Amino acid sequence: MFKIGVLVSGGGTNLQAIIDSINTGVIKNAKIETVVSNKEEAFALVRAKNNNIDTKVIKIKDFENKELYENALIDYLKSKELDLIVLAGFMVILSENFVNNFKNKIINIHPSLIPAFSGAGYYGLKVHQGVLARGCKITGATVHFVTEEADGGPIIIQKEVFVKDDDTDESLQKRVMEEAEWKILPQAINLILNKEIEIVNNVVRRIC
Ligand code: GRF
Repeated sequence: MFKIGVLVSGGGTNLQAIIDSINTGVIKNAKIETVVSNKEEAFALVRAKNNNIDTKVIKIKDFENKELYENALIDYLKSKELDLIVLAGFMVILSENFVNNFKNKIINIHPSLIPAFSGAGYYGLKVHQGVLARGCKITGATVHFVTEEADGGPIIIQKEVFVKDDDTDESLQKRVMEEAEWKILPQAINLILNKEIEIVNNVVRRIC
């Protein structure tokens, strides 16, 4: 059984997409071993509990500094012997040390076509605000491996979403989730689980 840990901070619709994909057999032979949040009010935790998935809250403010917080997170995640860690709306930038503890085992979903509107400062609605302010006609979402560079790791899958003239930040955010994020996150997990991809020179390639 392929063991997945999901790190969340918010609503958890991407977590829900993974849960649904496992329940409907789109993702086979996999289990969400734990859902970890840095915020106890995250609705994602309710979604996990509704599906009998173990949850854990580890808050930065309970530690003297970020390094100690990360060490606690690392220890907890290692104790779960995970095959994959999914950042699904996890609003904490992780250090090089954290990433090196789980080399090529962490993926993230970002609501734009990276490298556009990605990196420091581009999170949540700010991404979609940037897209609309620039007048982009196409946006989308990206699933990528996590490295020490924010949104800079090897890209696994991208999916485009067309921008409408009357889109607002919120309407675009919603469509990017519905049309792209909830589809490509389970697809990316399947590519990894089924060993269909490899990383060559920082680029993801299909294994033929
Ligand atoms: C998503 O837009 C995701 O791309 C970004 O954070 C948001 C999380 O939403 N990283 P949810 O908590 O999965 O609903």
